[in-house]
Amino acid sequence: MKKIHARTERLLLRDWDSDDLDAYAAIIADPLVMEHIGDGKPRPRSQAEEFIRIVMAHQQSRGWTRFAVEHTASGQLMGFCGVDDKTGQYDFGWRYARSFWGSGFGFEAASAALWVCQNTFSLTHIISKSYPENEGSIRIMQKMGMIQIGEGTDFGRPLVIYGFASEWPDGLI
Ligand SMILES: CC(C)(COP(=O)(O)OP(=O)(O)OC[C@H]1O[C@@H](n2cnc3c(N)ncnc32)[C@H](O)[C@@H]1OP(=O)(O)O)[C@@H](O)C(=O)NCCC(=O)NCCS
Repeated sequence: MKKIHARTERLLLRDWDSDDLDAYAAIIADPLVMEHIGDGKPRPRSQAEEFIRIVMAHQQSRGWTRFAVEHTASGQLMGFCGVDDKTGQYDFGWRYARSFWGSGFGFEAASAALWVCQNTFSLTHIISKSYPENEGSIRIMQKMGMIQIGEGTDFGRPLVIYGFASEWPDGLI
């Protein structure tokens, strides 16, 4: 039984299971999904295996991770939304199969995942990063109430960093 962390009108946030591998591997094999992530290249199945191994270890050890997002009506894995800490900060991110874009799911999942991270798991100082051209992603940050608190680079590309003004009154130092 996969643990459910939150339900919204159209989706649920839940723990990952090894049977999510095929669906997640298809998501990260899509060049358009990966266009604004890391080096901008699609990723092989081996990286989906590695990702699922890591998130399943996180959900076992501490509960929170980048939660699996499931479309309630179809039972399909849509992608993920939630926090990882591999950079030493609580980095909130999301990634969905293309067929789910443009219908408000991104913001619906982000609102639910933020609530769970802050209230169930008491995480503070959550940030979110994006390449500036990823307008949809930045719009979700803004709709959650984040503002730009800093900037950086990743793979030689400029990056904007968002957070909550009340937690970063002086920006990201
Ligand atoms: C970015 C992503 C999560 C957006 O998901 P989504 O479900 O389409 O987003 P929503 O429908 O909830 O839209 C949220 C807001 O962004 C806007 N938006 C979404 N995609 C957009 C785009 N490509 N260009 C401009 N605005 C966009 C929407 O209009 C909406 O704003 P509004 O309410 O003011 O109209 C999705 O496209 C995705 O998974 N992309 C690939 C992975 C990725 O880039 N992850 C983030 C890395 S930083």
